[in-house]
Amino acid sequence: MIKASDFGSDFHWGIAAAAAQIEGAAEQYGKGKSIWDTFSAKSGKIKNGHKPDQACDFYHHYVEDIALIKTLGFKIFRFSIAWSRILPMGRGEVNQQGIRFYHNLIDECLTNGITPYVTLYHWDLPQALEEEGGWTTFSINSAFNTFVSICALEYGDKVKNWIILNEPFGFTSLGYMLGVHAPGKTGLGNFFSAALHTALAQADGAKIIRAEVNMANIGTTYSCSEIIPYTQSDNDIQTAKRVDCLINRFFIEPTLGMGFPTADWDVLEKFQLEYGTWRQNDRMKFDFDFIGLQNYFPLTVKYNAFIPVIQAWEVKAKSRKKPHTAMGWEINADSFYNIIKQFAAYPNVKNIMITENGAAYHDKLIDNVVDDPERIHYFQLYLEAVLKAKKEGLNITGYMAWTLMDNFEWAEGYNARFGLVYNDFKTQQRTIKRSGYWWQEFLDH
Ligand code: NOJ
Repeated sequence: MIKASDFGSDFHWGIAAAAAQIEGAAEQYGKGKSIWDTFSAKSGKIKNGHKPDQACDFYHHYVEDIALIKTLGFKIFRFSIAWSRILPMGRGEVNQQGIRFYHNLIDECLTNGITPYVTLYHWDLPQALEEEGGWTTFSINSAFNTFVSICALEYGDKVKNWIILNEPFGFTSLGYMLGVHAPGKTGLGNFFSAALHTALAQADGAKIIRAEVNMANIGTTYSCSEIIPYTQSDNDIQTAKRVDCLINRFFIEPTLGMGFPTADWDVLEKFQLEYGTWRQNDRMKFDFDFIGLQNYFPLTVKYNAFIPVIQAWEVKAKSRKKPHTAMGWEINADSFYNIIKQFAAYPNVKNIMITENGAAYHDKLIDNVVDDPERIHYFQLYLEAVLKAKKEGLNITGYMAWTLMDNFEWAEGYNARFGLVYNDFKTQQRTIKRSGYWWQEFLDH
């Protein structure tokens, strides 16, 4: 049976969460609206009309929740700072109640021997900045830099581990191209301009932390998925390459100083010409101390001439009769191993941390017990894949499970439960699931 000690005593174990998904108190204690507060108020955007305004009410329950992290045995808590709790209008006046809240949270972690990993942007842009164009406009960069400086100066003495962005591809594609996440914008033009400003913000933010925080350990996170061609036909293989450019290579390569992968997908060449991205190549580069990888599933794709731009069609796990989670995401730990290897192969990726990985199921609380054997099985398989990659010499130094407790899963609302702890959203009663007890046992050995 796999156990934490198999990974070595210096391996870092953590659990991750994000402000908008857990905090609640969305428009209280001086916090300004974020794009998720606005987006979720529009009808039809979030399943069942759910809203993040209460979420897990972590704002009032953080002491109890840190105690839970301690009980489970994790030594790291990765959480994000809500930009609009610090700067309600995105820039300008600072909300001292917000500043205090994160001091209290950080202090609570430290008192309990839990190391905070702070994410500076986990998708909840202040609405006031979205009114100016959000990530599609260059004025976002100076606003983000100011926010980062404030956080660095406030918390830099206590927090040494910083994550600049959470999944830049995730929020730019879902929020600015497909419109299924906040702020609900669509189209390639919005996506490319958002992507460019995001890539700049990522490097600028990291440079600010480097300058302001003594002994900082700086990372950023990328979503990633192995892209598998449906058949070995030339068309499907080329399609998989294009999708790989977009999903896996698009954000990491500029960070590594390689620019956008224009050579392997002609659409990116046009983007390069239109936005002159090569002129920014030096600014998008940063030598991160660690690269955070977040993987949940692989994607199987086939060529389809009718799909605009990317000409790819995803063949879902269900239709291929492959095991999948409640999100419909394929369970395939070999693909996790393969994608870690793909990212580790970049010569200047020095250190990889898995900053998210987990699974949603339709959990039920019966007689105070949540029996979730599928989630336990998922973690076993995926942890074995990490261990295999590590044993082969890849420099993987940590793993963070997603997530502490069931929470606001963006457009899925509260329907998708990813937690190791069950949350009753009416009573805010937390119950450790069997998978949580499994982790407790795993970390103890
Ligand atoms: C990625 C995101 O960072 C996180 O916020 C989300 O809940 C999980 N994946 C699961 O979808």
